[in-house]
Amino acid sequence: MSETSEKKPAKPVVLTCAQPTGRLHLGNYLGAVLNWGRMQDDHECYFGIVDQHAITVPYVPAQLRENTYSCLAQYVASGLDPARSRLFAQSHVIGHTELAWILGCLCPLGQLERMTQFKDKSRKQESVDAGLLFYPVLMAADILLYNAALVPVGDDQKQHLELARDLAEKFNHRYSDTFKVPEPFISKVGSRIMSLQDPTAKMSKSDPNHAATVFITDRPEDIRKKIMSAVTDSSAEVRAGADKPGVTNLLSIMSACTGRSVAALESEFAGKGYGDFKKAVADAVVAMLDPVRLRYDELIKDRGELDRILKAGAEQAQATAFRTLSKVNRKVGFVERPR
Ligand code: TRP
Repeated sequence: MSETSEKKPAKPVVLTCAQPTGRLHLGNYLGAVLNWGRMQDDHECYFGIVDQHAITVPYVPAQLRENTYSCLAQYVASGLDPARSRLFAQSHVIGHTELAWILGCLCPLGQLERMTQFKDKSRKQESVDAGLLFYPVLMAADILLYNAALVPVGDDQKQHLELARDLAEKFNHRYSDTFKVPEPFISKVGSRIMSLQDPTAKMSKSDPNHAATVFITDRPEDIRKKIMSAVTDSSAEVRAGADKPGVTNLLSIMSACTGRSVAALESEFAGKGYGDFKKAVADAVVAMLDPVRLRYDELIKDRGELDRILKAGAEQAQATAFRTLSKVNRKVGFVERPR
């Protein structure tokens, strides 16, 4: 049999999305984006910037638009590759909200009211719009529209993913087998990057203490300053342990940046002071992020290129989305759209 007659098995579909929230930090990079990038060779990847989710809480329209471009530039600079993957804005693809409506008609209200993120977010607001309640249904649509097999998410999104799985099963059961039931992909590496100033709290972009968070577009001198002033402890012993959260955090940062094990780093720095250690951590972070920042600085000035990337991503995503949507519309009993 000739080689060409054999059909290559389809690569499993990976989909993940993020809100355009501005600047990515070291925790986002090591815990998420870097892992997404690694999946691009052997998966068919969809990376969505979910601007429709972003309007479920108070926001400023002009800033949303800027943040969408900025997020895209940071993703591309971080290695998400528009030539291999589909990078798109959610609002550019017809199908997300359409499928969300249909899934919403399969979703018990109580299940949405019980979502912990909904409860958290609505507690922080004076009045709550229906969009915030519907948020997890739109997220389920993002996933099911592309028949994703694997969905890289953080711990905080597990409950939403569970809902997506429920809705897929429900649809398959009520109509007929249509959706793959998606699996969460939760990466351990780099997923617990802590604040440099309070190593018992996760690194966060909204930390009021600016020294607590390294952003991936920070200048090298700022990265160095932040790491040199990171909170450690008084024992001057480079070792990981529950009693040493600050040093443990720096060790896991350096380990994630260099690919070397924490144990190897501990023995390299045995008997050395925190000064030398922090300098090495800073060097490792700067070496990793410098090319990212340089690429970002180029891209963010080039709206034309960013628009081209969004257009290509949307076109490819749309082709898949239309296929799913027409199948779903037929199954739920809608008359075929006149051509
Ligand atoms: N809710 C996710 C978050 O805030 C973002 C998101 C929207 C998402 N749609 C998705 C993540 C689909 C994974 C898959 O992090």
